[in-house]
Amino acid sequence: MHTLTEGRGLLFGGDYNPEQWPEEVWAEDAELMRAAGVNLVTVGVFSWARLEPEPGRLDFGWLDRVLDLMAANGIAVDLATPTASPPPWLGHRWPETLPVDEDGHRLWYGSRNQFCPSSPVYRERALEIVTALADRYAGHPALALWHVGNELGEVCHCDVSAAAFRAWLQERYGDLGTLNEAWGTTFWSQGYGDWAEIVPPRRAPYIINPSQRLDWWRFCSDALLGQFLAERDVLRARTPGTPVTTNFMGLFKRLDYWSVAAEEDVVANDWYPEPGNPLTPARTALTHDLMRGLAGGRPWLLMEQATNGVNWRPHNLPKPSGQFRLESLQAVARGADGLCYFQWRASRFGAERFHAAMVPHAGAETRLHAEVRAHGQELRRLAEVTGEPVPARVAMVFGWESWWALEERGRPSDRLNAVDQLLDYYVPFFERGVSVDVVPPSGDLSAYALVVVPNLFLVGDEDAAALTAYVRAGGVLVVGPFSGVVDPWAQVRTGRFPAPLREVLGASGEEWLPAPEDRPVRCRWSGGPKIGPKIGAEIGPEIGAEFGARVWTELLESEGAEVVAEFAEGDLAGRPAVTRHRSGEGVAWYVATMPEPAALAELAGKALADAGVSGVLPGLPVLPRGVEAVRRGEVLFLLNHGTESARVPIPEAAEDLLTGSPVKEHVTLAPRAVAALRPLENGAA
Ligand code: GAL
Ligand code: ZN
Repeated sequence: MHTLTEGRGLLFGGDYNPEQWPEEVWAEDAELMRAAGVNLVTVGVFSWARLEPEPGRLDFGWLDRVLDLMAANGIAVDLATPTASPPPWLGHRWPETLPVDEDGHRLWYGSRNQFCPSSPVYRERALEIVTALADRYAGHPALALWHVGNELGEVCHCDVSAAAFRAWLQERYGDLGTLNEAWGTTFWSQGYGDWAEIVPPRRAPYIINPSQRLDWWRFCSDALLGQFLAERDVLRARTPGTPVTTNFMGLFKRLDYWSVAAEEDVVANDWYPEPGNPLTPARTALTHDLMRGLAGGRPWLLMEQATNGVNWRPHNLPKPSGQFRLESLQAVARGADGLCYFQWRASRFGAERFHAAMVPHAGAETRLHAEVRAHGQELRRLAEVTGEPVPARVAMVFGWESWWALEERGRPSDRLNAVDQLLDYYVPFFERGVSVDVVPPSGDLSAYALVVVPNLFLVGDEDAAALTAYVRAGGVLVVGPFSGVVDPWAQVRTGRFPAPLREVLGASGEEWLPAPEDRPVRCRWSGGPKIGPKIGAEIGPEIGAEFGARVWTELLESEGAEVVAEFAEGDLAGRPAVTRHRSGEGVAWYVATMPEPAALAELAGKALADAGVSGVLPGLPVLPRGVEAVRRGEVLFLLNHGTESARVPIPEAAEDLLTGSPVKEHVTLAPRAVAALRPLENGAA
């Protein structure tokens, strides 16, 4: 990332698709880009048919002119490999490159993404065009970054994929006996006697073997990773100094982003926050924190966002004035060094004619483009945060394998989902201005005072041992329900649950008990911990006070843990709902239900007190409604996502980098307003 931002500061720009426009328009594009402070554009994402109109015939002339134009205007190019959308000739001549769904239907060209990730023909043709592109533009002054494909996520159930799946399984299990055991195929007469019998999970009469499906998820993810690596290697060999990225899609299920992030130079994300949902600011913050985690704490790139309404929701709410700026600055606050949009100029034709852009159909003399220009210019004022980290003392554990394993058919309740659970636990930290890092189950936890595991249905022995060791060494751990349930083969860990965490939690259970949904389950704070240093105005709930929980309960017993909350009705009355256990130097919490938001917020407060962590505004245990607070480097970002003005006391006198004005004691933020406060030296407020 550093090589990209050096001399440029924060990156600003978008997807630039000049192939949709006559060349006369390009000159105007370049001029407008300069006026808006654009310094990075992504070119060529969907240009395969234009670059290679028929197999082997290459036409690079137009792209030469685009790159030259960008270079002449000092605009860096994020050059895409065009492999996300093969030309019609590929599917026409080699139909086996077209993907097949689980019903056996082939998906045709006429849209995009029509390729089978395991197809050798696709791979060969893709690498040919990637090689030609890299050979041609190696050393071009505009080339700053490689963008592999687009939003990798394809899945294919064809026979070629089936063969690749078998090869992958052979590698993993060696022999069929081991596979049969791992998949538990004595159940429902599924024993395999020949590798050739194994197929992807295709449409079947009833629930498919969850262990087979888990391996299929892994295989599909690996197949996409394989495509990424193949392209990356071609690029690296020819342009070793040019970083390589691919654009993620937030919490996207099919591809294990931890595995890809480890192999790329820059982490990039596409993010289109859902308008009108009150949880959107928190969900967006969580996604940004995940990107920072994927980047190992280093800056990342917001590759695509929208200036206004998108076109792919059924009813596309526009963004009020100031909204895209707010969203963009939220990403800056959470570690993004680049703020890019889909796309530069709104298309006249094609499926995305009605998607917002930086230059709308109505042209540059518009309200929207004026805001784009102003935003590009104001980003210069934030140049000093470029490269700066977002320090966090709290980590949340999230892994794709557990996500895949959890959300299969045939479990006690489909109301307990990985991402919802993650967001539920994230919200109280967001509302307190406590920064959170997202880490993988195998991540290094030593830097964190508090580690939250909202759900880890699948946990490996080593990861469970690492969580235990983390607590013993002084960490505070919070574990959510239905965790530690299965092993890496999706087989239930027998004994009292959560078997591999039972000791550290000092509590264990014997039944998972989904609850009626017509009303909350009554729970009560039952005494609980005399916890360490109280933080700010932190006041625990009164003992005996009741709260509600949803959907999920467990029959639990303390094995040494304090019972912090208990169920207050039915057969579970008086049984633990939340426990807290001192283990070694640390503390481990277990939450055996899904407490309503207010109760989860209490719980987060208690765990934070255990860990001695407070938010970035220590005087305010909870931020004013709608306000987000996060510190990047030295700069304190305050963002108002609410519909009302908010007055926020600030810890020290500062300069607002966005306005250049000094502020002290407090700032007042109108709706959608942002302050970026750099403390003044010796400036206590
Ligand atoms: C992204 C994609 C872009 C464009 C955009 C529209 O998912 O990468 O090419 O389709 O969505 O919102
Ligand atoms: Zn296929």
